Amino acid sequence: MKRSIKRQKLMRLAFTVGLVMLALPCMLHAEIPYPDIPKVPKAKAEQCVEPTEIMRRNHMEFILHQRDETMHQGIRTTKHSLKECISCHVNPTADGQYPRAEDKEHFCSSCHHYASVKIDCFECHADRPQPKDSTNQMSQKSSHQYHNQSKDIGALTSNTETKPATEAN
Ligand code: HEC
Ligand code: HEC
Ligand code: HEC
Repeated sequence: MKRSIKRQKLMRLAFTVGLVMLALPCMLHAEIPYPDIPKVPKAKAEQCVEPTEIMRRNHMEFILHQRDETMHQGIRTTKHSLKECISCHVNPTADGQYPRAEDKEHFCSSCHHYASVKIDCFECHADRPQPKDSTNQMSQKSSHQYHNQSKDIGALTSNTETKPATEAN
């Protein structure tokens, strides 16, 4: 009789320990929403162009949307401009150098590296802030193939623009 009570107690203890062990990873996870995302470098200002939470999730839509508006409708605002993102978010590291797009310390790559996201934007766009008075610092590559992926055939066929001079070389 005594023995079976002892065994019952032991079983209960084992069960409790088992439960805690099972729950532990979940509990830890809940406390750290971004497991081992490297520290995202701080921006120069107090606020982003959209609430940070929204930006964290939807930034790609904003810049892609902005890109489409600029490229297809000729609208030019700076609110969601890629240049502005870079100029506020990319800062020199401890050694005084600006990180490059492929470095983990670069604002955009800090998460992308972790999330295995690859973007090719910086093949053309500057990955570091550019002086205010600088003329186009972008690579000489034409944006046409890249940004003109519109499936709107009408827009494409009515497009009578000539090749930019830069494409010749
Ligand atoms: C004038 C400065 C400024 C501009 C311009 C700006 N941001 Fe921000 N952004 C911030 C600040 C401040 C935060 C809050 C976190 C911080 O302090 O670094 C933030 C947060 C973010 C975050 C979340 C980072 C995190 O810690 O999880 C993302 C993603 C982001 N911005 C993307 C962008 C993109 C994309 C653009 C361009 C469309 C942009 N931002 C333009 C200042 C700016
Ligand atoms: C093949 C070269 C090339 C690539 C790759 C490229 N762009 Fe562009 N992009 C351009 C050119 C050229 C312009 C027009 C020049 C300008 O507006 O400064 C432009 C304009 C833009 C604009 C509007 C201007 C601004 O700064 O807001 C945005 C936004 C933009 N690109 C975002 C992107 C994003 C995001 C990616 C990556 C997913 C990307 N681009 C990849 C060449 C490129
Ligand atoms: C807070 C973390 C974080 C920061 C900072 C960040 N990104 Fe992202 N980005 C992500 C994640 C995560 C995804 C993938 C989202 C998905 O697949 O749904 C992504 C996706 C993207 C995409 C779409 C890629 C594709 O192939 O669909 C673009 C474009 C992009 N980011 C541009 C940028 C640029 C430009 C910056 C710097 C100005 C930046 N991101 C900074 C986390 C971040």
